[in-house]
Amino acid sequence: MKNIQLVGIVGAGQMGRGIAQVAAQTGYEVVLFDAFKNSLDFGYSFIKTQLDKGVEKGKWSADEATKAYSRIKITAEMADLKNCDLVIEAATEKKELKFDIFKKLDEAVKPEAILASNTSSISITEIAATTKRPHQVVGMHFMNPVPVMKLVEGIRGLETSDETFNTVAAVSEKMGKTFVRAQDYPGFAVNRILMPMINEAVYALYEGVATAKDIDTAMKLGTNQPMGPLELADFIGLDTCLAIMNVLHDGLADTKYRPCPLLKQYVAAGRYGRKNGKGFHIYDK
Ligand code: CAA
Repeated sequence: MKNIQLVGIVGAGQMGRGIAQVAAQTGYEVVLFDAFKNSLDFGYSFIKTQLDKGVEKGKWSADEATKAYSRIKITAEMADLKNCDLVIEAATEKKELKFDIFKKLDEAVKPEAILASNTSSISITEIAATTKRPHQVVGMHFMNPVPVMKLVEGIRGLETSDETFNTVAAVSEKMGKTFVRAQDYPGFAVNRILMPMINEAVYALYEGVATAKDIDTAMKLGTNQPMGPLELADFIGLDTCLAIMNVLHDGLADTKYRPCPLLKQYVAAGRYGRKNGKGFHIYDK
């Protein structure tokens, strides 16, 4: 197994900043990279706020929070990831963007490093094929909110080596997460099951089975889920849900994965969910 000390994160959005926070709190040195300075600065200050809130709630001490924060360096230059032992990419869920990032990471980061993607549905085998080190490319799929959710779904691409897979399993466990193993088929395990449930809830709304509020209440109270499926869709982002449904539909070529027209319409209208205040429900921004 490889010895991992310095972890690079690509993307300071809601997933990247959560991964950076948890990595730093579990003793890793972290380099958080985002090409967009505004996003980088916002992500960095968000981590500080989260660490401070944890101190107020008595989850960890002020000293632990200060130490964790001091382990995170931020940069807008990908070249600063060069000495990382592991880089976890958490950019927007767009295939061409991820391919481009991995091509660039392959040039920028030392050859022995592992390159992981937090993709929720894009093929790890295809991402790996854009690099000259496919044996060292793997999926590490964290759940949102990263500091709260206990799972990392590990995805093994066709060429991923045992050493790479076992290393990221150990890193995930050191980060306090349970690691499950999935093969590289569309949606892996979590989204293969979760997204059709969400899509079916949208169909139920579309067909007038019940209101959005009642669908969520029914599933929350009737099946003991912390959020109803439409509320969860808003939380994940309706654009992301649609992107994942498209991956399932294209990749598995089965009409049972057909994205609901209402989901497509909401995304076309710019209703992305909680992140912009309007999805199946309305939120205070
Ligand atoms: N970052 C850090 N901590 C957070 C947080 C965030 N963004 N949001 C909530 N928390 C913490 C709170 O601080 C609180 O901690 P304490 O109990 O220690 O005080 C705890 O979570 C509970 O929060 P709240 O009391 O504010 O709210 P809640 O009880 O309604 O829980 C929730 C919020 C944890 C998000 C809960 O509703 C939940 O578990 N929802 C389902 C989340 C889920 O399914 N996520 C996976 C989505 S799928 C995915 O991510 C993968 C994909 O590919 C699409």
